[in-house]
Amino acid sequence: MPQSTTRTASDLVHLGPVIPVVVLERADDAVPLARALLRGGIRTMEITLRTAAALSAVRKVADEVPEMVVGAGTVITPDQVDAAAAAGARFLVSPGATTGLVRAALDSGLPFLPGAGTVSEMLTLAEQGLTTIKFFPAEASGGRAYLSSVAQPLPHLTFCPTGGISAATAADWLALPNVACVGGSWLTPAAAVRSRDGAAVTTLAREAVSLLPTPGRGTPVA
Ligand code: 3PG
Repeated sequence: MPQSTTRTASDLVHLGPVIPVVVLERADDAVPLARALLRGGIRTMEITLRTAAALSAVRKVADEVPEMVVGAGTVITPDQVDAAAAAGARFLVSPGATTGLVRAALDSGLPFLPGAGTVSEMLTLAEQGLTTIKFFPAEASGGRAYLSSVAQPLPHLTFCPTGGISAATAADWLALPNVACVGGSWLTPAAAVRSRDGAAVTTLAREAVSLLPTPGRGTPVA
């Protein structure tokens, strides 16, 4: 599989229909999980900085599975931006945004998917040139009704909704005109990660990809 070039957040959200949101307690689980996702056709992986193992997990995937575009999620401080970049993260995701976090993320030069849950937060990000946004927490912030309502007043913004999305609802989210992909943890259930059940993860990944036959999705980005 060719290595993807992901220069911007817009490149990132067009790499596939779903960005798996991964929580890893053991860094050694990261490489087998990355390979299981790749086998299922998923080429991005957001490892959340919520565990002690997360940065080491990012580093392992970056070093050992170059075909996987691995990023750091739950980035909430400027220090975490630096640590994620040093570990080899190829993109950053945050649940929200502060001035300091945005500055650090932009300085890193990495594609950055900042979180926003309201129109004013979205406009604040857009003012800083950030027009590809994680709508978070998607279901709790008003769901598809909210996000589709902002499509007309904010036509310049593209979203990756995350939070409460499942295999059953992903296709409906992806049908919105301002949604490029969705984020979710359902592809990497804790039990399957713990037991290294790669086959289960590959099946979930394949199902996620096949939900979405939209031409162009999942094709290499030049
Ligand atoms: C995130 O960290 O982005 C979300 O908590 C993932 O949400 P989910 O577990 O509901 O998919």
